[in-house]
Amino acid sequence: MKVIEVLKPGQLTVGERPMPAAPVGGEVVVKIKAAGICGSDVHIFHGQNPFATYPRILGHEAVGEVYQAGAEVKDLKPGDRVAIDNVFSCGRCYACRSNRHNVCREVKVLGVHIDGVFQEYIKITADKLYKLPADLPWEMAATVEPYSIAAEAVDRAGVTKDDTVLVCGAGPIGLVILQASKRLGARVAVMDIVASRLERAKAMGADLTINTRETDLLEAVREFAGGEGVNIVMEATGNIGVLELAVAKLVSQAGKVIVLGFPVEPAKIVPADIMRRELDIKGSRLNNKKFPEVIRWLAGKEVDPTGLVTHVLPFTDAAKAMELFANNPEEVCKIILRFD
Ligand SMILES: NC(=O)c1ccc[n+]([C@@H]2O[C@H](COP(=O)([O-])OP(=O)(O)OC[C@H]3O[C@@H](n4cnc5c(N)ncnc54)[C@H](O)[C@@H]3O)[C@@H](O)[C@H]2O)c1
Ligand SMILES: [Zn+2]
Ligand SMILES: [Zn+2]
Repeated sequence: MKVIEVLKPGQLTVGERPMPAAPVGGEVVVKIKAAGICGSDVHIFHGQNPFATYPRILGHEAVGEVYQAGAEVKDLKPGDRVAIDNVFSCGRCYACRSNRHNVCREVKVLGVHIDGVFQEYIKITADKLYKLPADLPWEMAATVEPYSIAAEAVDRAGVTKDDTVLVCGAGPIGLVILQASKRLGARVAVMDIVASRLERAKAMGADLTINTRETDLLEAVREFAGGEGVNIVMEATGNIGVLELAVAKLVSQAGKVIVLGFPVEPAKIVPADIMRRELDIKGSRLNNKKFPEVIRWLAGKEVDPTGLVTHVLPFTDAAKAMELFANNPEEVCKIILRFD
């Protein structure tokens, strides 16, 4: 079978691997049908992810069909359509015992710490597989993982219909958070510096878009939020200055700042800004068993991934897809690789 692997930073090939051995016990072999490309795949390709080791089969956003199931697998059979949760944990540490397995101290993510989903078949335990509705096209179903990031973020923030939310960054992550927040009834503004990305945010339901190259962000936020800061800031630009500004000026009294982007440099934050307004500054990482919830959103058309998926390519064009993704932020949002 064919796999997409990075042999060493900068060197991506279509490789050959033996088919997975027949599944035993609770194992399942899944025939991959579609998989999304994410910024982290490109970072690993380019050697910019400190956690990645090589050679590495990329990919963590996949859906497919059950090909074979081990004898102990009860509720999955060949032909079933499934999404693959990409988060693996130890089950023993403090985070795991506190039902926060996505921040397990030994957390492992497909395609980063262990071989990922850009392969024609993958063997995985049944507890990582979630059934998909029959009428959800593969390309759309492949967005379950990015939406799971949004489900985690709105959960961490406790978004309600009474909140004003500022999503910083109109990349794939900002856009799914926009829709997850709208789904809960909040008013949502999205800021970015790329006009075409903001147009996409508008089309996907943003109440206000702010191009910070052209418009004064503070003024726009104050007007949007009725003279205060916004109740919730979702930081999905990965820009340290945006996080600093969120804490210093963008968020309201009793507000929340959710940190998704992770630049490595230290932020300049004044403790009095946190204390005076009793801010909650929270991280949001990966997803904590959010796949069933997100599949319900997609099945019920409560979120709409059609605006997210801009390109669909055969998986053997992965190198071309990576370059397209890296070099055309105006035009590209989510690229889905098809495996048939
Ligand atoms: N926490 C998690 O689980 C998780 C998961 C996936 C991605 N991420 C991180 O979330 C961030 C967003 O991911 P993405 O895939 O959408 O990335 P992306 O690069 O496609 O999107 C970031 C957006 O922010 C905009 N931006 C950058 N600097 C800005 C600035 N100073 N002002 C305004 N806009 C600015 C860019 O134009 C871009 O549209 C990244 O930092 C990524 O590493 C976190
Ligand atoms: Zn991803
Ligand atoms: Zn653990």
